[in-house]
Amino acid sequence: MSILVLGGAGYIGSHAVYQLINQQNDVVVVDNLQTGHREAIHPEATFYKGDIRNIVFLRYVFKKESIDAVIHFAANSLVGESMKKPLAYFDNNVYGTQVILQAMTEFNVKHIVFSSTAAVYGNPAQVPIAETSDPNPTNTYGETKYIVEKMMYWMNQAHDIKYVSLRYFNVAGALHSGEIGEDHRPETHLIPIILQTALGQHDHITIFGEDYDTPDGSPIRDYIHVDDLIQAHLQALDYLQHGGASDVFNLGSSEGFSVKEMIKSARKVTGAPILVESGPRRDGDPSVLIASSDKAQKVLGWHPSRISIETIIKDAWNWHRTHPDGYGRE
Ligand code: UFG
Repeated sequence: MSILVLGGAGYIGSHAVYQLINQQNDVVVVDNLQTGHREAIHPEATFYKGDIRNIVFLRYVFKKESIDAVIHFAANSLVGESMKKPLAYFDNNVYGTQVILQAMTEFNVKHIVFSSTAAVYGNPAQVPIAETSDPNPTNTYGETKYIVEKMMYWMNQAHDIKYVSLRYFNVAGALHSGEIGEDHRPETHLIPIILQTALGQHDHITIFGEDYDTPDGSPIRDYIHVDDLIQAHLQALDYLQHGGASDVFNLGSSEGFSVKEMIKSARKVTGAPILVESGPRRDGDPSVLIASSDKAQKVLGWHPSRISIETIIKDAWNWHRTHPDGYGRE
């Protein structure tokens, strides 16, 4: 029996594959390598290069492998890009998942763990944000993830496919060994850009807005270590395999840090000056996003352990310092 990891060459998916293999699971990876990296795929995983929107390809994989459950990371995930190319996001994220659910139905695979996002909440009425907050996405990316949650809900009714949807807050860090890490092109995320600045790849980092209603004026986010995040996926699989009902969980550390606090902490970790400039707000950025992860802790028994911001930045730094060009120029 194998776990099928869709998007297993991406930042978060590749970390899932490493943890699954460490825990003695057989892993099959599917990735179209559009944003993922071949070098990020664990050498012991069975890899199929192909696109989730291709039912013929998916049938081939499901037929060849004996798939027990699916963990689905394959998606486009840049908020800014999603606002410029909405149809590309509906196509890959919504239609792509529709095809996966079709293949699961045909091959009688009943469990799926799905990567969702805090972006489903939009500008929350209250922080910390609990799963009972009404979703109200303010960007196409969040909308596509919310639509998939609804699609899975109806597939559960019709075909008894059980799902766990995990709404990630700000995922960061890297495998402690530094073997794999974050490499987006273009990079838009805060921690990689701070660390690239520490490496001298940028003169400075621009703080997108210092006039928010927060103690130091810069936006506050809830950063969760990728290792802790993946641990929740393994617990979600276990939960489904033990008869757990379909459900939705937030994954965050329940603590918020401002952009300026993150830069300060990165200066301490790297010893680099990391120059900053003040810039305008980035469109659509909410001021504060902090998760309540009580439900995941209670129901899944999830207890994130690498929650210190310094630990997260240290692990990310370990990757960036040793791989200044990420997986290399392509
Ligand atoms: N930021 C800067 N300068 C930069 C980059 C980022 O000031 O050069 C700020 C942003 O304005 C934001 C914070 O750093 O306030 C974090 O930004 P990221 O781009 O790292 O992350 P986001 O909070 O925008 O997005 C993350 C995920 C998305 C997900 C979203 C959910 O990356 O996939 O959380 O709200 F949709």
